[in-house]
Amino acid sequence: MYSFEFIETTVKGNIAVIELNRPRQLNSLNRKMVCEIVTAMEMFDREEEVRIIVLTGKGRSFSAGADIDEMTGDDPVSLELLNQFADWDRFTLIKKPIIGAVKGFVLGGGFELALCCDILIAASGTEFSFPEAGLGVMPGAGGTQRLTKLVGRTKALEWLWTGERISAETALKHGVINKVVAPELLMEETLKFANRLAKQPPLSLRLIKDSVNKAVDYPLYEGMQYERKNFYLLFASQDQKEGMSAFVEKRRPDYQGK
Ligand code: CAA
Repeated sequence: MYSFEFIETTVKGNIAVIELNRPRQLNSLNRKMVCEIVTAMEMFDREEEVRIIVLTGKGRSFSAGADIDEMTGDDPVSLELLNQFADWDRFTLIKKPIIGAVKGFVLGGGFELALCCDILIAASGTEFSFPEAGLGVMPGAGGTQRLTKLVGRTKALEWLWTGERISAETALKHGVINKVVAPELLMEETLKFANRLAKQPPLSLRLIKDSVNKAVDYPLYEGMQYERKNFYLLFASQDQKEGMSAFVEKRRPDYQGK
C-alpha cells in the first residue's frame, strides 16, 4: 500500500474515491501530487474489487491549477530533464471509468485534470477556466488538445485565448461536463451514478472506454475495425454468457468482471 502526502484515498464497495488534499492552496497541483493521483489511479485500476474511480477535491475548490510557486524557477532545460508532463501521459492508460466530481475553481492544470476524467459532475457555481495565457504561458498537460476535441476549434480558441471563466451551465451546454447538481448533493449524486455504473459488466465498460477513446483519434473506418475486435473479445467473457442467459431466463444478471 502506498502512503500519500497530497491526496487521500478510500474504497467503499466497488467505488474508490481519490481526494485532492491541499485545500489551503485550493488543491493547486505540485508535481508530487500529480504523481500521487495517477499512482493511486493505477493502483485502483489493478484492484479487482474496484470498478469505478471517483476523483474529487477537499475544501472549496477542485483545483486552482498547477502550483505556480513551483513553476516560477523553471526553464526549458529543467522542464525537459524533469520530463514535466510524463505523469500526465499515465492518465491516458487508466482502463476503468473515472468520474470527476468538481466544485469551486477548476482552473488551468485543474481543468486539464478534470478533462482526464471520463464523466464530469459539477456543483452549480463551479467556474472553469484556462488562465495560462494571462500568466504568459499556455496549457501543457493536454488542455489545448482535449478541450478542442470536446468543444471544437472555435470555442476552444475563445476560452484559451481569453481565459474567461466558464460557468457549470455553459460547460454543460458545450458538452464539457455531464451534469450540474446542487453543491450539497455533489458527492451523493456522484456516488449514485458511480454505483449505477458499478452494476454494469466491468469488461463492457472497459472496452467501451477503449473504443470511444479510439473514436476521438481514429478515422471512422479504422475505428470501426477496432470496435469490432473489442466486440468479439467480449464474447470470450463469462459476463457475456451471464448477461445473455439472465435475459433469456428473465432474471437479474450478476456480473463478476470476468
Ligand atoms: N498555485 C499556487 N498557489 C495557489 C494557486 C496556484 N495555482 N492557486 C491558489 N493558490 C494559493 C494562493 O496563493 C493562496 O495561498 P496563501 O493563502 O498562502 O496566499 C491560497 O491558494 C488561496 O488562494 P487565494 O487567497 O488567491 O483565494 P481567492 O479565493 O482569493 O482566489 C483564485 C482564488 C482566483 C483561484 C486565485 O487563487 C488564483 O487566481 N489562482 C491562480 C489560478 C491560476 O492561474 N491557475 C493556473 C495555473 S498555471 C497552470 O495550471 C499551467 C499548466 O497547465 C501547466
